[in-house]
Amino acid sequence: MADFESRISSLDLGLFEKIESQSVDEDKRSLLACQFAVRSLVPGYNYLEIGSYLGGSIQPHLLDEKCSTIYSIDKRPLVQPDERGVDYTYLNNSTERMLELLRDVSEDGLKKITTIDGDTGEIDPSQIRDNIQLCFIDGEHTDEAAFRDFRFCLDILDENGAIVFHDAVVTYNGIADCIDYLKKEGIPYRGYNLPAIVFVIEIGDFPVHKSPPVLDMLLNNHVGYLFSLQANDMYRAFANKRPFRIYRQLMAKFKGLNKFD
Ligand SMILES: C[S@@+](CC[C@H](N)C(=O)[O-])C[C@H]1O[C@@H](n2cnc3c(N)ncnc32)[C@H](O)[C@@H]1O
Repeated sequence: MADFESRISSLDLGLFEKIESQSVDEDKRSLLACQFAVRSLVPGYNYLEIGSYLGGSIQPHLLDEKCSTIYSIDKRPLVQPDERGVDYTYLNNSTERMLELLRDVSEDGLKKITTIDGDTGEIDPSQIRDNIQLCFIDGEHTDEAAFRDFRFCLDILDENGAIVFHDAVVTYNGIADCIDYLKKEGIPYRGYNLPAIVFVIEIGDFPVHKSPPVLDMLLNNHVGYLFSLQANDMYRAFANKRPFRIYRQLMAKFKGLNKFD
């Protein structure tokens, strides 16, 4: 097996192989590209994620000698609300099960994990004893939770760091609130989407975007753009069903919205 350095620099998806992660291959590649950038910016970086489930997204950090500490926050409710309008059920979702699976990824790596059961609305940020350079938000998929998790991450982030969201295609309104908040508070940031549905917010001076694998994804931004629009296309298909289409046509005619002069 190739050593970790060459595996991370080639964005080797095998780094996710032991525990199934709830993400598509493009997401995994983007997460590895962010990790690659962060470990170059801050060798010895600290990682925190909200929403770990079985530990799928923890694996590459567990294996990374340049990652010093991992915090995993997960409330582990049986049923979680979701902005798509359908609640999701997670059976047998426990910290013990996650740690057992991660033991098989790296027994030694387990020493750097701290787990916290709960949600960021009830956790005191002082429980995070290290300055964090990379946060990953993948917990409850509602706009409200995404914004709440983001505020928590801002509290515990180092002066410069990155906050990364999964499923931006679901919590995009929450992410928009995060951007508004940064603007309102005058906090320097850069925000961008990576394939397929990963959204990165760099805080302060933390140029993840300059790292060659991330830069390449940014130049080819059609991947995430088209994936996201197509993922939400069912809503347009629904709005175009006959009765809704007739109603919309009538409304457009009544308001004169579909006439150009
Ligand atoms: C999509 S899964 C995480 C997947 C994981 N990151 C991976 O890549 O395999 C979502 C997780 O968020 C957790 N969760 C749900 N509501 C939460 C909340 N309010 N705060 C923190 N975690 C929450 C669930 O227990 C679940 O384990």
